[in-house]
Amino acid sequence: MPFYPNLIKSKLPKAGTTIFTVMSALASEQKAINLSQGFPNFEASEELISLVYQYMKKGFNQYAPMQGILPLRERIAEKTESLYGAQYNPDTEITITSGGTQAIYTAITAMVREGDEVVVLEPAYDSYVPAIELAGGVPVYVALKFPDYTIDWNAVKKVISQRTKMILINTPHNPSGTVWTQKDMQELEKITSHSEITIVSDEVYEHILFDGLRHESVMRYPKLAERSFVVFSFGKTYHTTGWKMGYCLAPEKLMMEFRRVHQFVVFSSNTPIQYALADFMENKNYLELPQFYQEKRDYFLRLLAGSKFKFKPATGSYFQLLDYSAITREKDTDFAVRLTKQFKVASIPISSFYHEPIDNKLLRFCFAKTNETLEMAAERLQKV
Ligand SMILES: Cc1ncc(COP(=O)(O)O)c(C=O)c1O
Repeated sequence: MPFYPNLIKSKLPKAGTTIFTVMSALASEQKAINLSQGFPNFEASEELISLVYQYMKKGFNQYAPMQGILPLRERIAEKTESLYGAQYNPDTEITITSGGTQAIYTAITAMVREGDEVVVLEPAYDSYVPAIELAGGVPVYVALKFPDYTIDWNAVKKVISQRTKMILINTPHNPSGTVWTQKDMQELEKITSHSEITIVSDEVYEHILFDGLRHESVMRYPKLAERSFVVFSFGKTYHTTGWKMGYCLAPEKLMMEFRRVHQFVVFSSNTPIQYALADFMENKNYLELPQFYQEKRDYFLRLLAGSKFKFKPATGSYFQLLDYSAITREKDTDFAVRLTKQFKVASIPISSFYHEPIDNKLLRFCFAKTNETLEMAAERLQKV
């Protein structure tokens, strides 16, 4: 190809291959146990898989309606009302998406214009900032307070201005494994009231909270819900991250803008999976998830007792942070690579969740794994 200097001017010049791809590739090259990327290594329900197959065999193989099939939107409306006491109209306020990431991208694209500021709390899931930048927006960063990853509300207040268009929030939180409290929601309510700020609330881990904690959805707070796009992932809830299915809830006027973009990003999402999920949701087995993942967290941490890693048990999500400061002063990115190569366990260094790396000597491990995998990983980590 001849060299035309202006032919390719990257819109995301700083974006390389994501750390998740890098660490997963290294894990597979090194034949290491991969606790880096956030996906289960156990199977989804047989019943759900056979429902998808049945719907495929029955001929549900063409485009679904743009907003998703009605029975699935109805099940979601019922679930949302019973869990959070919030009413969303399946016709106008619920849209099925191809995963949580697409819902986040679509909401940002629908709302953010050139020069708009968007508040991002760091460490943050890696899709937020590129989506803001592609929309011409300007990310404004506020770091969560180390070591507990609580929110510094004064710092948030300080960055809010007339230019603030949106705040992105995420609870249960990836990567820290912490959850927001009622008090946090009330603070957010205070800060945003009488403003024109919209919220994207990433709640993909809504069912993964431990020790009896309640998920503080924005939907429990009507003054927040009225300005929020709330994002969910069937992948996280049903151990099917590879299916890339999710949904977004928002009040009608916001959802209208969301759908204007959604129809040109994907138009619609996988048809047979939507029918299968609509049937499968009736059994409400997502209610068992907190217990299921709490047992995994507890098991993993019991296996790590006596190792040189220090930790505070995660209160939500399926990620556990391990502090390796008693082992080495190496940079977290270097130590994550060494741990993969030498000890054959892959993780994600926390500094990679910041726009300018902050290295607190922490690695993130995904414990959505079989007990056998957790045992093998812990045995290796004990040797470090
Ligand atoms: C915080 C957070 N938001 C969104 C997503 C993406 O969800 P999905 O796989 O449904 O796109 C993830 C997946 O890891 C996540 O951790």
